[in-house]
Amino acid sequence: MNAPDHPGILNVEAEPQACGVAAPHEAAHLHVSGRALYVDDVPEPRGTLFVAPVLSRVAHGRLKSVDASAALAMPGVRRVVTAADLPAANVVGAGHDEPILPAELIEYLGQPVALVVATGAKAARVAARAVRMEVEPLPAILTIAQALEAESWVLAPVHLVQGDVEAAMAAAPHRLQGEFAMGGQEQFYLEGQVALAMPGEDGTMKVLSSTQHPGEVQHWVADALGVPAHSVQVECRRMGGGFGGKETQAGHIAVWAAVAARLAGAPCKLRLDRDDDFLITGKRHPFLGRWTVGFDGQGRILAIDLVQAAACGFSADLSGPIADRAIFHADNAYYLPAAAIHSYRCKTHTQSHTAFRGFGGPQGVGMIEAALDDIARHLGLDPLAVRRLNLYGDAPRDRTPYGMQVADNILPALIERLEADCGYAGRREAIARWNAASPVIKRGLALTPVKFGISFTATMFNQAGALVNVYTDGSVTVNHGGTEMGQGLHTKVCQVVADTLGVPLAWVRITATDTGRVPNASATAASSGTDLNGRAAEFAAREVRDRLRAYVAASRGLDVAQVSIRGGKVLVPGAELDFVAVAKAAYAARVSLWSDGYYATPKIHYDHKTMRGRPFYYFAYGAAATEVAVDTLTGETRVLRVDILHDVGRSINPAIDLGQIEGGFVQGVGWLTSEELVWKPDGSLATHAPSTYKIPTSGDVPADFRVALWPEPNREDNVYGSKAVGEPPFMLGFAAFFAIRDAVAAARREQGRAPLVPLSAPATPEAVLRAVAQ
Ligand code: MTE
Ligand code: MOS
Repeated sequence: MNAPDHPGILNVEAEPQACGVAAPHEAAHLHVSGRALYVDDVPEPRGTLFVAPVLSRVAHGRLKSVDASAALAMPGVRRVVTAADLPAANVVGAGHDEPILPAELIEYLGQPVALVVATGAKAARVAARAVRMEVEPLPAILTIAQALEAESWVLAPVHLVQGDVEAAMAAAPHRLQGEFAMGGQEQFYLEGQVALAMPGEDGTMKVLSSTQHPGEVQHWVADALGVPAHSVQVECRRMGGGFGGKETQAGHIAVWAAVAARLAGAPCKLRLDRDDDFLITGKRHPFLGRWTVGFDGQGRILAIDLVQAAACGFSADLSGPIADRAIFHADNAYYLPAAAIHSYRCKTHTQSHTAFRGFGGPQGVGMIEAALDDIARHLGLDPLAVRRLNLYGDAPRDRTPYGMQVADNILPALIERLEADCGYAGRREAIARWNAASPVIKRGLALTPVKFGISFTATMFNQAGALVNVYTDGSVTVNHGGTEMGQGLHTKVCQVVADTLGVPLAWVRITATDTGRVPNASATAASSGTDLNGRAAEFAAREVRDRLRAYVAASRGLDVAQVSIRGGKVLVPGAELDFVAVAKAAYAARVSLWSDGYYATPKIHYDHKTMRGRPFYYFAYGAAATEVAVDTLTGETRVLRVDILHDVGRSINPAIDLGQIEGGFVQGVGWLTSEELVWKPDGSLATHAPSTYKIPTSGDVPADFRVALWPEPNREDNVYGSKAVGEPPFMLGFAAFFAIRDAVAAARREQGRAPLVPLSAPATPEAVLRAVAQ
């Protein structure tokens, strides 16, 4: 594919060699041979102690006393840390509203109340169980319904109103009320939360952290220790998965390890046991959606009044921006001429829910998709026809409720192509024939789109920095503020740097993310890792490249435009110079061979008061068609075939992008079908291990799984013409969910039940059985 002819593609003069290629992940050879170093693999310094948290056993209560005497008497135990021991202010969290360790008030079951520090990890864990605490229980709010009733909020409700909803609703020929609940989701990164804190000289602290946001870990640790940020260095080479679960939550683990290290005067490691990880850390927000929707006889939405209620847990954490993103995705791909969206950020006495792939977007999307499914079934139409009718289009049908223009709406064309490629119409008929002949196993089909806004909704986070160093042997290191969690960010950044400098990919090595190298970096989140850091690295590499070109031009009496670099060769009229020789000579001539690069996303702005603006630089689009089989006697479901057409712009690495699409889809299906978080009436999480919490396995990956990339570069000026891919495909999993609804509808029709399918998410076998028979 040719580079689009806009100025953003900086390397158009040198044909890309590394970008656009399905290069293996930069650490794949290490991952598959067990040699990739994660925090827990790094050899511990001599004298390292191990930390285990002591968890609260009530959801809400007043802490009267902590008795650590039995624990302190156990072998290997060095110390037990409580709130009274903390070296500085006892406050932490993205909303500055959480204690490091509670002094008086316990707010969820599983909250760490004390830390045991011991010579071994096992010794610390065993001793943690021996710490006693006296707690006076208080009434706990555990569900969204209870929180709505009690008006219990972590943050004030937010209302976005666009158009005259009342009038449009009153005038609508049809009205429906509906409700759709979505459960939470545990991030289930394969590598659990872990940090190793190592005290250095003069009050400094170095922390190895499995974190998506080293800069925030640095600040939290500095505040917890009462030292300036310059005294704390945080490093992350890679995570074994993050999925949003290490955006803020990793900070707590690091703070506990660092506080223990400061108090014990020794390196301290904290690696959470899987059950503790489930019990302590936040998950995807469970949401409840309730709406009244007005529409015409064809299913065109005329007005919607929508309540979005999120269970946020005990503190704010990222609930504000997550609930905001649910508002921004309340439309998904559809034009809502009049919309009132009421967002409630409910305080519950549970883990503080946090980022998870999609960041509130999936919950927003789920509600409008459920409403459209209801509308279609109410009118007796194919849901796809109703979805297509409601897609964004030409003005005035191109404005989101928050006032952003959907300028590059490729969805109508994309859906048309997917519909043809997957044989939608023919398969609809085949499924109807199958269902007529099959009394127990029913099949269903759904095609659902996604439109996902790319950028952090808080404008300030949309910036990044990078460093590119060229050594005199021609080898290159690149360092940037983004983190690697398996998504391939580092690989893509290396590809961009290789092409910009004009050297082979193999010459470029990425180094660990380090707060001492690139400061004030944003979290690697909102899918924007490559957009931000890739561009910053491109700018840094371009700077070095152009210095080399200028040096060669000057030394040969040429114009700079006559010098180009590609494939490790410096090309001048009539000659090909060796890059390494040029780098050596440039160094000798005292030309700097390293540079920083900085990028800030253009065009975006958003006013939180009026809730209007352009919060996103662009949208990423996609659609999935999914066919499922449902056993109406057991409630079991199986995905039979998936066809996806997804927009990654001009792909920097098609292998990585396909992996993100497949992985995102399967993770979305897991959320919507098998992963169920169950809190008992006392506030304890019953599903806190893989024995009871079911993530998809290799056996759940659809056998017939066809993924294609939409062949068009990003119309906005983005790195290499690419689009972000990390989160958008997650929402393609809704195609499987609504295919299940479709199959259940067939069973209900046969039994003469009402056409609307009373099925929320997750569609576990129990839920499916209820939906068939209700
Ligand atoms: N892919 C893998 N393999 N592991 C992960 O933890 N996290 C997802 C997504 N894909 C994740 C992943 C989430 S939540 C986000 S926001 C993006 O990757 C972050 O990386 P990016 O911005 O570089 O795409
Ligand atoms: Mo992703 S939920 O933005 O870390």
